[in-house]
Amino acid sequence: MTGGAGFIGSNLLLHLVPRHPEVVFVNLDKLTYAGNLANLRAIETAPNYHFVQGDIGDLEALHALFDEHRFTTVIHLAAESHVDRSILDPLAFARTNVMGTMALLEAARRHWTDGGDYRFYHVSTDEVFGSLGDEGSFSETTPYDPRSPYSASKAASDHFVRAYHHTYRLPVVLSNCSNNYGPYQFPEKLIPLFILNALHGKPVPVYGQGKNVRDWLYVEDHAEAIETILLHGETGATYAIGGDSERPNIELVRLLLDLVDELTGSPAGTSQRLITYVTDRAGHDFRYAMDHARLTEALGWKPRHTLETGLRRTVDWYLANQDWLAAVVDKSYLEYYTRQYHGR
Ligand code: NAD
Ligand code: DAU
Repeated sequence: MTGGAGFIGSNLLLHLVPRHPEVVFVNLDKLTYAGNLANLRAIETAPNYHFVQGDIGDLEALHALFDEHRFTTVIHLAAESHVDRSILDPLAFARTNVMGTMALLEAARRHWTDGGDYRFYHVSTDEVFGSLGDEGSFSETTPYDPRSPYSASKAASDHFVRAYHHTYRLPVVLSNCSNNYGPYQFPEKLIPLFILNALHGKPVPVYGQGKNVRDWLYVEDHAEAIETILLHGETGATYAIGGDSERPNIELVRLLLDLVDELTGSPAGTSQRLITYVTDRAGHDFRYAMDHARLTEALGWKPRHTLETGLRRTVDWYLANQDWLAAVVDKSYLEYYTRQYHGR
């Protein structure tokens, strides 16, 4: 697995490692600002788990790892993942998301030459499909229309994964997923950032008028979807994954802040007073929604959490893990935050 120290990767490892003791997992992660080994404490001494610090763009190191471990499966999550950062520094996104994915594809192609039972699973995003109006949803057949440097880099990586399947018969499978939330998410993304700010009585910055719509998926539901597709998905296929939980941002924010008040015992309405409307994100996609009918009909997966149950578990987790939050809010984070909100 690549990117196993990030938000989704660590939730996925916590899900998979105890459930598959016969499988040896190697977590390759560069440990950027978004990677955190503290997420993996529950499995760090498991006999079927190993950590390797490294860059997916380092092809020589990848060859050495493939030689050493004889991987049969790659689950590729490592990426630069935050849209606002891609607006500030697009080249970093091309390096990791495009060139890094290509290096990984190249390593797999060079090592998987004996016709064995291999699988390259590429984890991608619904943002490659562009932006919806009030109606409709994305599915596996929606044409690509990426509009941010982040989504353009993910779209490019998806195209290379499919090109390696078409040209070299690399046994790939892909999924494109909507907005995840849950434990261990770095507090630059909307939900953990707003929980963090509410806990400190700081303004919560809603972009534009808060009317943009996202489809929220609890990260454990995503982990189950990835496991299902990994084990039973059709080679060469793509699966759309969504949470059936569309909300305009401002509705989500109100729900979230009310939960923070309830679970911290603050008077109702306290945190909503922190809502501050700020300049919109450049090129802000209006709406995403995912139709996951193929995955549900073919493989029987559907999300178990509603937005209400998932958010309650999430706020509970952040309240119980404030030491985790404090530890990730370090100097580099504060520099980014200052650039983000005062430098544009
Ligand atoms: P994240 O930013 O929390 O974690 C990314 C991880 O990748 C970190 O551990 C980081 O250290 C590692 N990494 C970054 N560059 C690397 C490099 N060059 N070499 C090795 N490791 C590197 O991201 P996330 O939210 O967990 O997203 C994981 C994947 O899922 C990404 O590919 C993302 O595009 C995709 N995705 C995310 C969401 C979401 O809502 N978070 C939704 C759909 C798809
Ligand atoms: O849709 C899947 C994508 O979801 C993933 O591919 C990305 O990796 C992930 O970062 C996420 O992208 P978004 O841009 O949708 O997530 P973010 O949490 O940054 O923002 C969610 C919405 O909230 C979006 O409409 C922008 C808005 N927002 C965000 C932040 C950080 C605010 O209004 N204020 C904020 O401070």
